Amino acid sequence: MSEIAKIELGGTSYELPVIEGTENEKGIDISKLRGATGGYITIDPGFKNTGSTKSAITYLDGENGILRYRGYPIEQLAEKATFLEVSYLLIYGDLPNSEELTSFTESITNHTLVHEDMKQFFEAYPPKAHPMGVLASMVCSLSTFYPESLDHDRGTEAKDLTIHRLIAKLPTLAAWSYKNAMRHPFMYPKNNLDYCENFLHMMFAMPTSEYQIDPVVVSALNTLLILHADHEQNCSTSTVRIVGSSHANLYASISAGISALWGPLHGGANQAVIEMLEQIANDGGDVDKWVAKAKDKSDSFRLMGFGHRVYKNFDPRATIIKKACDDVLEKLGVDDPMLEIAKKLEKVALEDEYFKERNLYPNVDFYSGIIYKAINIPTEMFTVMFAIGRLPGWIAQWKEMIENNEPIGRPRQIYTGENERGYVSVEKR
Ligand code: ACO
Repeated sequence: MSEIAKIELGGTSYELPVIEGTENEKGIDISKLRGATGGYITIDPGFKNTGSTKSAITYLDGENGILRYRGYPIEQLAEKATFLEVSYLLIYGDLPNSEELTSFTESITNHTLVHEDMKQFFEAYPPKAHPMGVLASMVCSLSTFYPESLDHDRGTEAKDLTIHRLIAKLPTLAAWSYKNAMRHPFMYPKNNLDYCENFLHMMFAMPTSEYQIDPVVVSALNTLLILHADHEQNCSTSTVRIVGSSHANLYASISAGISALWGPLHGGANQAVIEMLEQIANDGGDVDKWVAKAKDKSDSFRLMGFGHRVYKNFDPRATIIKKACDDVLEKLGVDDPMLEIAKKLEKVALEDEYFKERNLYPNVDFYSGIIYKAINIPTEMFTVMFAIGRLPGWIAQWKEMIENNEPIGRPRQIYTGENERGYVSVEKR
């Protein structure tokens, strides 16, 4: 027999159905609560206990450190799959067979160029423009070049074309935002290269010199993108779904997701981690002093890269990344003092009661920045790398929301302002 939840309000008891997911996750369905109770709503700042949707894309068990895309464990995908394979899996629900993968890859490869007119936009940005600001604007601007994407009720083929265009063009836009900041000439994509190789080429090649593709770097990038590819209803993904729920087009919805990701409490943490490690190094490397600062409630400093809203035991992505980080640094022969500080910090924090009591563990961003640094990605581009990785997840979530015909996202509130009062003219105030 299915479970029922009961609440009592003013002597009346109301029954609420309990819904259960395929992994036995349970939720109390309050969708009829307001109507049934004559106006009561629930309140949950930060949505810590609120499910916004039913989703078949990503399963995450924060207590046990489990993450699966469409049922496949992240550990297997990170070790064996390519980023485009994982993108297909997230967006279309199953791993592609060889024909499907070839056709998907060809479609992505054929759309890597961005319209020449968009180059002028880049040139108008100041050299110090943060690449996340540029990326969010450029992605939204794609909608102006493909006005047919504004039509919400297009068929599957047209929707797929918009999706493929976006996956194809994001690395080009990202690399060009970097080239523009450097005031270097833009490098056009080369369609004989794979997704990760092409991005590295556009970032690091010059018209005067080829970029020597290093398989170690390509493989590290592939792993990092896969680890970031989806993470169910986080801040940026919820943003994409809520913007898309108004039937705003895909480019606009993803642009909003990029903006949400930018913040240091979310994707911006990878940049913040490296800046924090540099700050600690420049201050003499006294890790204990910085751990004490993080614990001090009168000090706003937090250990960036520690803590997570849902992982309360360990972040499985951090475990994979930590190993990948050691491998990459060893294979590339990089001896990074930041890594030593990171390891000391991790050790001190993991043994400290404050962090243990609050279940604060290193998250995915703690080590990703060190890998990006080792493969010469500039610090300001770290969150852009996260956005490239998260793109298929955002798209899959947007597509699911549209296909499920979900209602427009519109939370309620409890009003705590003034009661009605009359207008008083300025002379009398
Ligand atoms: N350093 C020091 N103390 C921390 C940290 C930290 N990094 N994170 C949480 N705490 C403390 C809080 O002060 C709070 O203490 P209290 O109970 O004594 O008041 C307690 O731990 C719980 O923290 P909340 O902020 O309530 O946890 P929440 O789930 O809201 O926040 C978040 C999670 C935003 C990730 C937080 O841990 C944080 O700010 N971490 C640093 C930023 C970071 O690394 N973000 C990346 C997250 S991963 C991602 O988005 C890809």
